[in-house]
Amino acid sequence: MHHFQYKQDELYCENVPLREIADRVGTPCYVYSHATLVHHFTVFDRSFEAVPHLTCFSAKANSNLAVLRLFSTLGGGADIVSGGELFRARKAGIPSERIVYSGVGKSAHEIDYALEEDILMFNIESTQELEAINERAGRLGRRARIALRVNPDVDPNTHPYISTGMQKNKFGIAVDSAFKAYEYARSLGHVEIIGVDCHIGSQLTDVTPFVDALKRLRLLIDRLQGAGISISHLDLGGGLGITYDQESPPLPHEYADAVLRELQGLSCTLIFEPGRVIVGNAGILLSKVLYTKRSPSRNFVIMDAAMNDLVRPSLYGSYHQIQPIEKRSREEQIVDVVGPICESGDFLARDRSLPMVKPGDCLAVMSAGAYGFTMSSNYNSRPRAPEVLVRDDRIHVIRARETWEELVRGESIPDFLS
Ligand code: LLP
Repeated sequence: MHHFQYKQDELYCENVPLREIADRVGTPCYVYSHATLVHHFTVFDRSFEAVPHLTCFSAKANSNLAVLRLFSTLGGGADIVSGGELFRARKAGIPSERIVYSGVGKSAHEIDYALEEDILMFNIESTQELEAINERAGRLGRRARIALRVNPDVDPNTHPYISTGMQKNKFGIAVDSAFKAYEYARSLGHVEIIGVDCHIGSQLTDVTPFVDALKRLRLLIDRLQGAGISISHLDLGGGLGITYDQESPPLPHEYADAVLRELQGLSCTLIFEPGRVIVGNAGILLSKVLYTKRSPSRNFVIMDAAMNDLVRPSLYGSYHQIQPIEKRSREEQIVDVVGPICESGDFLARDRSLPMVKPGDCLAVMSAGAYGFTMSSNYNSRPRAPEVLVRDDRIHVIRARETWEELVRGESIPDFLS
């Protein structure tokens, strides 16, 4: 469900025609629907209302301050993986006690910042990190609340780049070594064990891998409790997929039913770190056709958005639906939708059947609300696109388009060159 729909052949975001956004804000531009964000967050969160839980939105999926603030007002927290994300989360007003911190490479500086902010929990990914957090906490006269991120070695059946819970992935501590690592953690003076954490991958379209991972975690938790290590928080990460094309991932309540069935009798606060399922279909990338051209073997539609704006098709071969914002009955043709960047890997779609377009037409690249803007870059010195939040019939620019001046901010020419 999302609020990007045609009304009389014009594509709207809620009650704003996308044409109006293209004219007023310019293209390329990210557009998010407030009603869709609220709906997705609420549906996910409510599916666990029967048990104590906290929904920590995964900031890496979409870290705009307005988006983070919105989820905070709905009772959500944040899953962060860097000092920068902690800074954003706090600036957006997310309370520290609703922040969990994962990631294999937390630096001393980042650890200190998170300790000072007194976040809910560090999800620790190695013994060395455990020692580092213990040491930093000791220096600051604090105790760090921790979970160990357990790598359960299950195959999430997703793109290899976004699969994280298999032995060959860099994430977490192998499930077979986890008990020992917990015993070691117990012996350290400046950490307090409160949880077990796990995140097996992203864009999962089946509950089976989640259930398999849970079974392994459950055994570990029982063993820990038996050894007097009490676990009050179980963080199940994120990973629930969305429909980009033909996928039919489990609905949040189906995911919740499967999870809760496995966890019967366990009295823990559950933590979830959903990203994509909340924001993915709540955002689009709006882009304008600059030119069209035909080579002997292909038709190209050259857009003003490129791989620096949305890298998912280039990086993972991901599919994003592309829709014209003005629907007219036009002949379809097979095209490659490409950007202005100087690489042949710069495409938004390949071999796609689209109605004939001409310069000035606008296209909406759908399902771009997750890992769209957050993965964008300045490659080819292209300023990053603005972000717009639509609420009913109002447009709010929640991030301005970058300027050329901003591109060179912080750069300097040393004296010997001047
Ligand atoms: N928790 C942790 C520890 C994670 O690493 C991730 C995603 C999430 C939660 C949120 O996962 P989600 O619910 O969004 O699936 N750039 C890729 C996705 C990378 C996901 C990385 N980790 C893409 O565009 O598909």
